[in-house]
Amino acid sequence: MIRTIPVTAFAGQKPGTSGLRKKTRVFMQPHYLECFVQAIFASIGGVAGKTLVIGGDGRFYNDRATHIILAMAAAQGAARAIIGQNGLLSTPAASHLIRLHKTDGGMILSASHNPGGEAADFGIKFNMPNGGPAPESITNAMFAATQTLTSYDIYDAPAPNLAQIGQTALGDMRIDIINPVTAHADLMETLFDFPAIRAHIAAGFTMRFDAMCAITGPYAVEVLENRLGLPAGTVTHATPLPDFGGMHPDPNPTWAHELMDEMMGQNAPDFGAASDGDGDRNMVVGAGIYVSPSDSLAVLAANAHLAPGYAAGLEGIARSMPTSAAADRVARALNIPYFETPTGWKFFGTLLDAGHATLCGEESFGTGSDHVREKDGLWAVLLWLNILASRNQSVAEIMTDHWQTYGRNYYSRHDFEGVATENADALMAALRAALPTLPGQTIEKMTIKSADDFAYTDPVDGSVTTQQGIRILFADDCRIIYRLSGTGTEGATLRVYLERYQPGPDNLHLDAQAALAPIIAAAHHIAQIKVHTTRTAPDVVT
Ligand code: G6P
Ligand code: ZN
Repeated sequence: MIRTIPVTAFAGQKPGTSGLRKKTRVFMQPHYLECFVQAIFASIGGVAGKTLVIGGDGRFYNDRATHIILAMAAAQGAARAIIGQNGLLSTPAASHLIRLHKTDGGMILSASHNPGGEAADFGIKFNMPNGGPAPESITNAMFAATQTLTSYDIYDAPAPNLAQIGQTALGDMRIDIINPVTAHADLMETLFDFPAIRAHIAAGFTMRFDAMCAITGPYAVEVLENRLGLPAGTVTHATPLPDFGGMHPDPNPTWAHELMDEMMGQNAPDFGAASDGDGDRNMVVGAGIYVSPSDSLAVLAANAHLAPGYAAGLEGIARSMPTSAAADRVARALNIPYFETPTGWKFFGTLLDAGHATLCGEESFGTGSDHVREKDGLWAVLLWLNILASRNQSVAEIMTDHWQTYGRNYYSRHDFEGVATENADALMAALRAALPTLPGQTIEKMTIKSADDFAYTDPVDGSVTTQQGIRILFADDCRIIYRLSGTGTEGATLRVYLERYQPGPDNLHLDAQAALAPIIAAAHHIAQIKVHTTRTAPDVVT
């Protein structure tokens, strides 16, 4: 039976950097999720006759939300839903399935790297038929629809059993429940030299993968342990849990501290990696050496040709604006184009679809390629493994070689979390107001060359995005960026991105925080961080 439920529109259902993200209990309010799902349907012209992929990272409310979406899709005439067993899919796996089965898009249930649980965060986003996050034209249409909604239709029937792999139905809608891992693992085998990696492992190479009790556990176990022959137990925290076992599944040195301790310790394995809640982020670490995400992108770009999937070379490289310029140097050496986009994977979609870029990366621990339309944590780990096996060198040796060749972009991000929104807004407003007066000023013995608020015109579709971060550029390739996070659910997070280029051959092995000290001091001074936030030190340093 189909029921029409009258509703009053909710305020504030505005998608951020990556879909709608709120406290789980906000989503659990009667009709809250339903209203947003209805707005998604409206933004894509309804779901009648369409096929959708549905899955999430297994966090609290994933199961309930999956049933709600199925019941609404069935009531509104969707032809077919493809679902990971128990409603589970990593974000890159969902992107792949959308493309593989040529579907009309998909719904991903996740708040990515934010903690999970009834008292933590939940989220939902829509990905397009190309497998990528909805562009701003669609997310704006979603937000508009949330404000005018008066009812939604839902199928009133017993929930299908999502534990049972196979075909079932809800009303006239066919439901395919699939193994969430297989298709993605198969795709990885087509891109990387699994025999070479297996041989490297058999010759004694060791690694640790911390899945942080989130979705990549089953993917990493299948690929690293079952298909590549790393010993059982290589993947730790491998079972996805509704609250991620209390872990904060954000793979950075602060939150993946267990992995960091092991990798910086006496008996460190050769290589370490971690992934986030929904499996699209990655952090890589060598024995005794942390690789910053910006450097990781550059190294992957410089060595991608060693992997079979990229043997023909890269079309181009794209990075988000706050990501360091290390990858640009590789692109120039390879004589291929490079692109600087606003923060958010959605901005890479047009470049990937048009074949302008093959590799993309962000300082926020995201790397990926044109194999899907999301960043892909396990993919990055496998490309690293392929490179380590092909070059038969350690991570430290590869980094040293890279910096000697290209110079080093010292880089760090300082996050000030839980700042009152009005204070964060005031800080940004003051910076914007000061922009015209900054060029020419000398701070910490460095002269400001230019300052602006980053705006981007998409070279493929011409769409314009403004106010994407305050950029302060100094002479000598030093840079400070200020931006407010678009993925938080409480207060504001001020992100300060710091960069300084060191051409070498000397001073390539300094501590990043020490190398950046004058830039950090200048960043505090220019934005008056203490005045606006009362903070003198960041909560997270990457
Ligand atoms: C999500 C997006 C990334 C983006 C990141 C930025 O993870 O998928 O593409 O880089 O958010 O987050 P922020 O909190 O800085 O807006
Ligand atoms: Zn994520």
